[in-house]
Amino acid sequence: MIDHLEHLQFMQDMQTALSQSPKGISPKYFYDQAGSALFDRICELPEYYPTRTELALLQSCASEVAQCMGEHADILEFGAGSLQKIRLLLKAAQQPARYVPMDISGAHLEAASVTLQQEFPQLRVQPLVADYTQDWQLPAALPNAGKRVAFFPGSTIGNFSPAQAHTFFKNCARHLPGGALLLGVDLIKLPDVLHAAYNDAQGVTAAFNLNLLARANRELGCDFDVKQFAHSAFYNAPLQRIEMHLLSLQAQTVHLSGQAYAFEQGETLHTEYSHKFTIAGVQQAALAAGLQAGPFWTDPHHHFGLLWLNIPHTQEH
Ligand code: AVJ
Repeated sequence: MIDHLEHLQFMQDMQTALSQSPKGISPKYFYDQAGSALFDRICELPEYYPTRTELALLQSCASEVAQCMGEHADILEFGAGSLQKIRLLLKAAQQPARYVPMDISGAHLEAASVTLQQEFPQLRVQPLVADYTQDWQLPAALPNAGKRVAFFPGSTIGNFSPAQAHTFFKNCARHLPGGALLLGVDLIKLPDVLHAAYNDAQGVTAAFNLNLLARANRELGCDFDVKQFAHSAFYNAPLQRIEMHLLSLQAQTVHLSGQAYAFEQGETLHTEYSHKFTIAGVQQAALAAGLQAGPFWTDPHHHFGLLWLNIPHTQEH
């Protein structure tokens, strides 16, 4: 049922993506089985510092984060991503009451939940199939639980436009009154370092980007000639973001549901923004949505940041 909806949504979004000028689609469609496996390989690349930096950071600040969470925290995670990261938090937390991973992919969520439940038999693991890029509905609060803490690691918030990030913060404020958001963000740094992280020597990021076209062929019956598209990723310094595109190497036509879509030579399908931040910038953006800055942590090179953001009990309207 859910997978059927996911398929329908992908179909509609791809139709919209190809009809637009400039063409563009949400990066959430990178993560089918092949894409998720490629992303796991990206995280191991020498050039891709964010994952290992955030993991080391989580390790070094875990007990301070646990202090912020308090006893019996009700922990929510946006994306059932890296079990490694949540594992560090759950181990440090003081008798966490529940863990709710939220993801659009039912299969990924199921696998993550089963593994975690086995490792933490005392913990109530309650997966939630929902799309946090839209809006969501939380399960009812637990009677004896402590603070509701949402975890959004990996700088995935960087995929949002500033307006979408604002909406996301607002949704957090609305759904988690009296709770908190623990947010991982990739920090602004030398463009060369950023460029290398999205243009790795082994071409894994290129394969990850191009897999979106292969996925559309597999799942939607499109006829993208994947070899006639190139990976393009660059740092847009004034807008403080990496942009990823799929660049058409020739004039070509692609079909979806009997409809033809033309690409000019050099035209791109935009696939991802990955915004880069400053700690103060994130705190300011969060405050604009009613979230209050708490402690934050960074690595010695200031490559990555983890921020604690408090959500007030009552929202002013
Ligand atoms: C998981 C979205 C944070 O933007 O760096 C990695 C995804 N894209 N390489 C990022 C990604 C290209 C990643 N996020």
